[in-house]
Amino acid sequence: MVKWMKLTVINDNEPNPPLLNDWGWSILIETDKWVLLYDADTEPGIMENNINALGIDLRGVNAAFLSHYHADHYGGFRYIGEVKRGLVVYVPEEDKILAKWGLRPVTVNSPSGILEDAVTTGVMRGMGVNEHSLIVKLDGYGPVIIVGCSHPGIDNIVKRVYEMFNSVYLVIGGFHEPLRHQLNTVVEYSRYVCPAHCSGDDARSYVKNNYPEKYCGIKTGVRLRLPM
Ligand SMILES: [Fe+2]
Repeated sequence: MVKWMKLTVINDNEPNPPLLNDWGWSILIETDKWVLLYDADTEPGIMENNINALGIDLRGVNAAFLSHYHADHYGGFRYIGEVKRGLVVYVPEEDKILAKWGLRPVTVNSPSGILEDAVTTGVMRGMGVNEHSLIVKLDGYGPVIIVGCSHPGIDNIVKRVYEMFNSVYLVIGGFHEPLRHQLNTVVEYSRYVCPAHCSGDDARSYVKNNYPEKYCGIKTGVRLRLPM
């Protein structure tokens, strides 16, 4: 189990000047055991700018994770390929572009360990998209789920993790404008809920107003230290 995690939002749809931002999602996950880059936004230039502005040293990154092959999640890997040639990226289907950019994509299908105490949900298909999400086991607190865009349904992802581990400590990422009943499921199963990226203002304000003790607000540049 990892003892602590530090999450740094490199890019989110929500701006936070002077950091740059656009429509996309990228988050750095640091633990006492490893460092992983989760998704890489749309623009290589925004990745480069924000990584430098946030003082992130890419030399320490052990691996990367791509939730799904949409450009607002993989576009910035072009920059990562320039500065971290050969970095392993766990991807949910046969590679479309990352190898061309100098990275080393590894396809995962079923739920499996990728780093110590880090597991992928395995590929879940929704809205015609193959997507996987990351689970990190936090000692004494339970699984932390990092999602990309939740095309398989954020409620389905959270339920799958709950079935695997019997608890959910925190879920963060794009919820893809969930319906109210989907959001209610997420809130019911999870201790902390952090809607980001494509979740939409409605989802953010619903959780914030109705479950303030569970809500955490995310924007570009936010850092969270877990356990909270
Ligand atoms: Fe997205």
